[in-house]
Amino acid sequence: MELMEGLDPEEARAIVDPALKLMIDAVHRYDGYIVQSTGDGIFALFGAHIAHEDHAQRTLYTALRMQEDLKRYSDRIRAEGRLPIQIRVGVNTGEVVVRTLRTGATHAEYAPIGHATSLAARMQVLAPIGSIATTEQVRKLCEGYFNFKTLGPTKVKGVTEPVNVYEVTGLGALRTHFQASIRRGLTKFVGRQHELEQMKRALALARAGHGGVVAAAGDPGVGKSRLLYEFKAVAGFDCKVLEAFSVSHGKASSYLPVIELLRDYFEIGPNDDERKRREKVNGKIVTLDRSLEDTLPYLFTLLSLNPSDDPLAQMDPQMRRQRTQEAVKRVLLRESLNQPLIVIFEDLHWIDSETRGLLNLLVDSVGSARMLLLMNYRLEYRHEWGNRTYYTQLSLDPLTPKNAEEMLDTLLSMPLTRSAPTGQALQPVAAKGESAVNAPAGLAALKRLIIERTEGNPFFMEEMVQALIEQGALQRNGVLKLTRPLTQIKVPATVQAVLASRSTGCPRGKRSCCIRWRCSGASSRSG
Ligand SMILES: Nc1ncnc2c1ncn2[C@@H]1O[C@H](COP(=O)(O)OP(=O)(O)O)[C@@H](O)[C@H]1O
Ligand SMILES: [Mg+2]
Repeated sequence: MELMEGLDPEEARAIVDPALKLMIDAVHRYDGYIVQSTGDGIFALFGAHIAHEDHAQRTLYTALRMQEDLKRYSDRIRAEGRLPIQIRVGVNTGEVVVRTLRTGATHAEYAPIGHATSLAARMQVLAPIGSIATTEQVRKLCEGYFNFKTLGPTKVKGVTEPVNVYEVTGLGALRTHFQASIRRGLTKFVGRQHELEQMKRALALARAGHGGVVAAAGDPGVGKSRLLYEFKAVAGFDCKVLEAFSVSHGKASSYLPVIELLRDYFEIGPNDDERKRREKVNGKIVTLDRSLEDTLPYLFTLLSLNPSDDPLAQMDPQMRRQRTQEAVKRVLLRESLNQPLIVIFEDLHWIDSETRGLLNLLVDSVGSARMLLLMNYRLEYRHEWGNRTYYTQLSLDPLTPKNAEEMLDTLLSMPLTRSAPTGQALQPVAAKGESAVNAPAGLAALKRLIIERTEGNPFFMEEMVQALIEQGALQRNGVLKLTRPLTQIKVPATVQAVLASRSTGCPRGKRSCCIRWRCSGASSRSG
């Protein structure tokens, strides 16, 4: 620790201890597990003790947060005339063996072993000071959600071939998996006609002032977001559509989806400065209805636009909560008088309790408004709207074998745009006029296998096909060609992660004190 030279141990501790605490807090915020905390650094795992399908993203959110918090802390201590501090963070993802060590009657510790963990530690050493370094595998899983800068192929101790190292430079534009699917290019939409009809019926009623709630429930990847997307494309031209999405670590932040929704409504862009944002909110509310001016302090607070003498700071939290939710509700109801309003909330299983409170309030009043609330959630989510006459539940099953086959046919015959590991674009599958159905006999068996293994889950089907191409098992060279026996085909990391998070946290049959896990690890150290 060069920066600490000349400091006595007491002084050094006074600087390092708060920095360590910031790092640990960042890990906990994103549900990571601290495996090791040395005097000046920590090693954390994501996706091991709790299976998270987005463990790689969580690791990078944590790493970015650590760097931001540490920078703020460092600026503060520098202003106090003390030595500044910076950290290097290294991140990797892959399978690790997690050994559970019992350290008492109730307490267990996880000790990860494996190449993937040591590579995270190597990344930490390679990271330029004050930055985050990571591997190709992490970049592949997180591309678009985060921005990366290549640091080039680097010789790493213990690895024969040079490793491609990347610096994580910040947040990218993507927040949800479905946004990533859109960017990659959507497969032809199949099935779900019955569900679309039910949504259209609910919208027709809403237009006539009998608003309602339609909620699609189903497993991850079954097509909940896609259904909403297709509905928006065929209905609602005369409506205003407002959308809120949730993220898997969303429970830790109050009102995250509501804030997104308001940004959408007030058309706030990332480049608008604070004054511009305030102007937009103010202008829109005044134009909408002057009698809504009393909602402004609440909207400003939600959007972090209140002046330093925040008028709500002293208010009783319960009252503030109630008035904030009322304010949002009133604005939306008033807006629905101008034209029918479609309000979309996705992935309710991840929402925080404040957003949940607002949703309950909206559901209470939607029945007599020109508003349609569209929601979706995974099967484990519970709510109390089931007995409302204006509530419709759509249970999304996996695709029927016929629809799954149709989807697979188009999947195998469309050019995929997601970058291959080497960065080269993928070739179109079939030559003109040729379709995957005409492909060799092995492919018919492959299609059956994919449908069987994915059980008709569209997300899994897409990931399987993508992985087959990336693993080189499926070649598209004018025609489709299977280059490896089906038995050698590995389940892709993205699918494994979802499967792990869907089960109770352990892959079936491997629930023991020594579990092989695919997870992400971050190693960070002050330097
Ligand atoms: N009916 C469908 N037809 C074609 N592709 C679909 C269909 N349903 C889902 N998909 C595709 O499968 C992937 C996962 O769907 P998504 O809607 O994101 O699932 P969920 O929201 O339930 O997790 C997306 O790329 C989506 O375009
Ligand atoms: Mg979705």
